[in-house]
Amino acid sequence: MRHSKIVGLGHHVPENVITNEYLSTLMDTNNDWIVERTGIHERRWMDPATDTVANMAAKASRIALSRANLTENEIDFIVFATITPDYFFPGSGVLLQRALGLDGRIAALDIRNACSGFIYALSVADQFIKTGMYKTILVVGAEIQSTALDISTAGRNTAVIFGDGAGAVILQPSDKPGILSTHLHSDGNFAEELYVKDPGSSRPHAERQPEKILDTSTFKVVMNGSQVFKHAIVRFIEVINEALDANNLKKDDISLLVPHQANLRISQYIQQKLALSDNQVYNNIMRYGNTTAASIPIALSEAWAEGKIRENDLICLAAFGSGFTWASALIRW
Ligand code: UT7
Repeated sequence: MRHSKIVGLGHHVPENVITNEYLSTLMDTNNDWIVERTGIHERRWMDPATDTVANMAAKASRIALSRANLTENEIDFIVFATITPDYFFPGSGVLLQRALGLDGRIAALDIRNACSGFIYALSVADQFIKTGMYKTILVVGAEIQSTALDISTAGRNTAVIFGDGAGAVILQPSDKPGILSTHLHSDGNFAEELYVKDPGSSRPHAERQPEKILDTSTFKVVMNGSQVFKHAIVRFIEVINEALDANNLKKDDISLLVPHQANLRISQYIQQKLALSDNQVYNNIMRYGNTTAASIPIALSEAWAEGKIRENDLICLAAFGSGFTWASALIRW
């Protein structure tokens, strides 16, 4: 049977470092609260002069390609996870295809599953490799959250958390896995617990005019933080155990868990519940905040570059976020 394998990975984050001290000048918050409640020390926010979702993704993709010893022209499919595309439409996949200078031969697909988006994208790409339809798939997670944040005291529970960035992996066929499994879930009953309402299409025409939308500020991120937190800690554990059970593996077999970087306290809770050692869990939320669909590929790329992922390691990815959606992937490196 044909399997898929990650053959290259890379990431790119904006130069612009936003410290907790800087945020304290914009809203009623402080470094101690942010570090204690989230673990975040700084995050990167886009510079409008240089950064778009598509061009950050292109930078991450080129690093992944060069680490895989491949060129742009070998890509035959792009799967792009983002909830913050450069345009309302078209999606970011086609903009990345253009930025990489690829012609009309290849397909580009956008995935809008928020913090779980990268694992959903990886799962989609894995299926296309297994069927034999594509041979070299670029899977990307990239986000610019900073421009939709309410950077006043009213929005402080989200403004201090989110950051911008991009991560990319290349998947190719392999005789043995590779990706052992992916497990995907959703529960739309909680859609409004973490969402951006506009520019939604369900409003009457008169209400959907730009000046009305700006008046009501409904284009900003709204999050019921404690509700999201409570569901996250349950679903993360469930979906990791689901992956282990499906593969007849135990939590001790995990070489490295790379969880979506939502909140350091969530990662620490998972670590404690699964009795994993510090060496078995990778976190970089301290430096980048929560970068939604980009968080897992950025963390995976950093962990790999730091030598924390070696051949034959068992890597577990897990995510939870808006939707609610949650997902896991087990990978034999
Ligand atoms: O990416 C996937 C989805 N996202 C997540 O998984 C995030 C999940 N949730 C969280 O990470 C946490 O709920 C937050 C970090 C967002 C909030 O932490 P919390 O411990 O749940 O705080 P809280 O919302 O219960 O608020 C506690 C207090 C409140 O004040 P009062 O009502 O007790 O006086 C907030 O107004 O902290 C206040 N607060 C802040 N204070 C200083 C909220 N945000 C801030 C802030 N600075 N930035």
